Amino acid sequence: MPDQIIQNQIEYYRARSQEYDEWFYRQGRFDRGLDLNQQWFDEVTRVKHALHQLGSVDRILELACGTGIWTQELLTIGNQITAIDASREMIEINRHKLGNSPQVIYQQRDVFTWEPEQQYDLVFFSFWLSHVPPDRLSPFLQTVAQAIRSGGHLFMIDSRFEPTSTAKNHVLVDDGSIYKTRQLNDGREFQIVKIFYQPDELQQQLAAIGIDAEVRVTDHYFIYTLGTKV
Ligand SMILES: C[S@@+](CC[C@H](N)C(=O)[O-])C[C@H]1O[C@@H](n2cnc3c(N)ncnc32)[C@H](O)[C@@H]1O
Repeated sequence: MPDQIIQNQIEYYRARSQEYDEWFYRQGRFDRGLDLNQQWFDEVTRVKHALHQLGSVDRILELACGTGIWTQELLTIGNQITAIDASREMIEINRHKLGNSPQVIYQQRDVFTWEPEQQYDLVFFSFWLSHVPPDRLSPFLQTVAQAIRSGGHLFMIDSRFEPTSTAKNHVLVDDGSIYKTRQLNDGREFQIVKIFYQPDELQQQLAAIGIDAEVRVTDHYFIYTLGTKV
């Protein structure tokens, strides 16, 4: 199952690429009405504010960059971004969204076989760690640590367990399983891993790879941290 789930996730996001942004921008199946949508966007603003508190950096690595929702944000603080994703479709949407920026270098890679070729001032990933299968977590985080220069930073964002964050036709149940079924707009179904980290647990995982981090949560939707490699 573990290797199969990695392929499933790649296929799922390839197939979802054209409709992916509906989730973040609270459209279609993800539209929860004015109040809940506003709550979501207010919490997004809080996380963006935390990212911008970092100030300017030179080299950024973004893992699992997706359609560029956060790559466009990173472009406002960094000089050069290396953006990695396994999906060609995601990369094409990202490239288009960022106006084919010469500051972004894309690499179509599976992060579980990728190895960093250089070190970065900031490594960033959003809504990705929750999809890393438990047996891959430690090697993945070690690779992340290798990619951060000494004194450099890690910024990550992920989901809290909040039923209104997902699509209206996805029922989020706390059944203890890390495997979830996700549906596309056309009804196709995929099995993915989704793990909801608690702040303490995440802080310990990061400390184990030499990242000093204070993990924070917003009121409902997000867990995030700005860590420093000591
Ligand atoms: C939940 S999306 C997050 C996208 C983006 N970070 C964001 O916040 O909008 C997960 C991303 O991981 C990518 N992905 C899935 N499996 C991957 C793998 N093994 N290696 C690299 N990218 C992968 C998908 O193509 C997708 O773009």
